[in-house]
Amino acid sequence: MRYKPFGKNKEKISVLGMGCMRLPTMSTGLSPIDEKRATTLIRQAIDMGINYLDTAPVYHNETCESFLGRALRGGYRERTMLATKMSRKVVNSREDCRELISLQLNRLCTDQIDMYLLHNVTKDIWSFFEKVGVLDIIENARERGEIKYIGFSSHEENDFFTKLVDSHDWDFCQIQFNYVDQDIQAKKEGLEYAASKGLDVVIMEPLKGGILARRDLPFADVFQASKRNWSPAEWSLRWIWNHPEVSVVLSGMNSLDQLQENCRVAEDSGPGTLSADDLETVEQARKAFKSSNQVPCSSCGYCLPCPQGVNIPRMFTIYNNHLLGNDSDWGVTMYNFSTAKSELASNCISCGKCEEKCPQKIPISKLMPEISRTLSVSH
Ligand SMILES: NC(=O)c1ccc[n+]([C@@H]2O[C@H](COP(=O)([O-])OP(=O)(O)OC[C@H]3O[C@@H](n4cnc5c(N)ncnc54)[C@H](OP(=O)(O)O)[C@@H]3O)[C@@H](O)[C@H]2O)c1
Repeated sequence: MRYKPFGKNKEKISVLGMGCMRLPTMSTGLSPIDEKRATTLIRQAIDMGINYLDTAPVYHNETCESFLGRALRGGYRERTMLATKMSRKVVNSREDCRELISLQLNRLCTDQIDMYLLHNVTKDIWSFFEKVGVLDIIENARERGEIKYIGFSSHEENDFFTKLVDSHDWDFCQIQFNYVDQDIQAKKEGLEYAASKGLDVVIMEPLKGGILARRDLPFADVFQASKRNWSPAEWSLRWIWNHPEVSVVLSGMNSLDQLQENCRVAEDSGPGTLSADDLETVEQARKAFKSSNQVPCSSCGYCLPCPQGVNIPRMFTIYNNHLLGNDSDWGVTMYNFSTAKSELASNCISCGKCEEKCPQKIPISKLMPEISRTLSVSH
């Protein structure tokens, strides 16, 4: 594993971190974590040199922190830096924010949270955090030794993102960054700006939730035609690690194969390792992705629960596959015969609640009726 110094104490942190938002589950949707498989995977990751784990109170239906507390028993906790967050979804007052930190220490079975982030900071969420004085709360927790490093994660556009960077003496931040998303949210400029201000930058959604690992999308053909024998996932990860400003890349790996591949790539990549030809290949792949009209849903699930029960990420997965046109019946079959009626796009009443929460700013309430019109056999 490759390591980089992180934070004021120059901690030795693996450049590949384990994102715990997509751990193996018992079945699809909001189903419980498959604790046996997930524990094995996390321990394998740590044994392979990964020492940064990222979670949040809201992941896996609010069960992920307690699960990690159990999974890291037997000496694994001591070998990792644990990152968790203050999610607006679970706090409504200053008192809630204070109590959450105690609860998290308890759930994670630890005396100290290594990395603490304000989660998914939007303008509204920042106003709330300012109103309740959240920075005092977490700085006080740091003085008591309950938190080590303080940061924030955000999917907001660059102008607000840079304001956030300047708003506190943060140790680090977390942004979405991959070769397809270099011109949205914080952008490459945001990455460079944060790093120039001394923040360590942690990357989320490096494979856009898995889309960029697929071999059946047009960008995969571009990679296939190149001289390199790299998978689409490898190309994407290598492109990110080519940036010297990147500290840690979090990937939501959920199998041993993915873990092994990503660890190998982490070791073999780094700033300046891509040639001009490689960068041109990635640029062509980016253009191919953009021209494929895929809905940019990364299945993060932040839009859920839908008040009408629509399984929004599943609807986009089916629709995106349908748009590829490889098998014209597949989307129709999946929509009509392999999805519970209560989860279908046809239940959408365009209330827009999901759009307020979608980090990718997808016009969900416009797309759901379109998906229903396109795929439902009853139309
Ligand atoms: N703070 C925030 O607002 C926020 C938001 C999003 C994410 N995060 C954090 O960032 C972490 C990383 O984001 P992410 O989970 O979206 O990461 P990601 O790496 O973009 O996507 C993870 C998915 O990519 C696929 N994958 C990973 N490695 C692969 C490989 N070598 N070959 C083929 N497929 C591979 C798997 O998909 P399949 O399951 O389809 O196999 C996996 O579930 C999250 O887990 C979470 O901890 C934070």
